[in-house]
Amino acid sequence: MVPITIMVTGANSGIGFEAAKHFATMNPARLIVVCRSVEKAQQSIKQIQEETGCKNAEPMALDLGKFSSISEFATQASKTLDRLDILVENAAVAIHGKVHSDRRMVGNPCKTRLHILLLLPIIMNTAKQHSVVPRIVVVSSEVIFFANIGSDAIAAPNTLETLSSKEYCTPEVLANRYTQSKILNVMLVHKLAELLPKNIVPVALNPGFCLSGLRREVEGEQATRYKQMEDEFAYTSEEGSRQIIYSAIGGKDEELRGAFTSYSQVLEISDWMLSEEGKKAEDKTWVEMIELFGKLDNRIPGIVAEYLKA
Ligand SMILES: NC(=O)c1ccc[n+]([C@@H]2O[C@H](COP(=O)([O-])OP(=O)(O)OC[C@H]3O[C@@H](n4cnc5c(N)ncnc54)[C@H](OP(=O)(O)O)[C@@H]3O)[C@@H](O)[C@H]2O)c1
Repeated sequence: MVPITIMVTGANSGIGFEAAKHFATMNPARLIVVCRSVEKAQQSIKQIQEETGCKNAEPMALDLGKFSSISEFATQASKTLDRLDILVENAAVAIHGKVHSDRRMVGNPCKTRLHILLLLPIIMNTAKQHSVVPRIVVVSSEVIFFANIGSDAIAAPNTLETLSSKEYCTPEVLANRYTQSKILNVMLVHKLAELLPKNIVPVALNPGFCLSGLRREVEGEQATRYKQMEDEFAYTSEEGSRQIIYSAIGGKDEELRGAFTSYSQVLEISDWMLSEEGKKAEDKTWVEMIELFGKLDNRIPGIVAEYLKA
């Protein structure tokens, strides 16, 4: 048995489930299978156990749609987890409808950020107590190369509020929403690498275009287009999950720290993200999120002060 704890979110379906199975074959002391409900996690664990023989998987419930669920999750984790060596933030939705709704707001990456920040005390303690280098693995996508966060939203007094407002969210803007959430994921990893000590490795990754449940809500012509693409060149979820495994245990810490990996290599991020406007968007959305989180969970100011030092 390997004396480490691994946590995977969205571990009941697609790439996350396959990644959890791969981790299970490595026989970690604890594999935390995080799903929307305990029932879903238990179902996933049953399948993982049947296919790998792993007996160390445990369920945890997290609904990333609710800030309160993230806070409750962190409270439970602080009581039950004595270490966390690998955190895989995989859960996400890609909604392709034309109307504004809460699910289409920039909520996805914001909630991933809150989840990571609230788990930082356990991760930092793991590094210190066990002299190891924990990894925070955030699933992004190659779609980061196809769009950006609008200049008007970046120039607005509050970028996140603007991006989430009904007035701003025209169908054209919403068409880029999934991409923007994946850009924010990469920015998060970049920021964490800037602010966290060197013995923590945050890394973002592209799993490649895979067959999974991700596009299940897509309808009409777009669904036909995706079907064609899936038939022609999609990877299986298992193949995509190998990119999570690479980012979680492969490569060299110093090369992966703050990086974006794709096909098991570190890739330069998009020109826009590297531009002055991209950097401004990264810094501004970070400050806005910390301010927002401080209002949502009173542990955040202490975590920021203690662990996130420039
Ligand atoms: N498939 C691709 O081509 C592709 C390409 C690039 C990046 N990705 C990324 O890969 C990751 C995994 O996606 P996938 O392709 O494996 O899709 P998937 O099969 O739909 O899996 C997504 C997982 O996220 C969970 N999830 C979604 N919203 C959640 C919420 N509010 N709270 C808790 N869990 C939630 C889902 O749970 P439920 O089953 O309960 O909904 C599911 O377990 C995502 O980050 C996705 O953006 C996928």
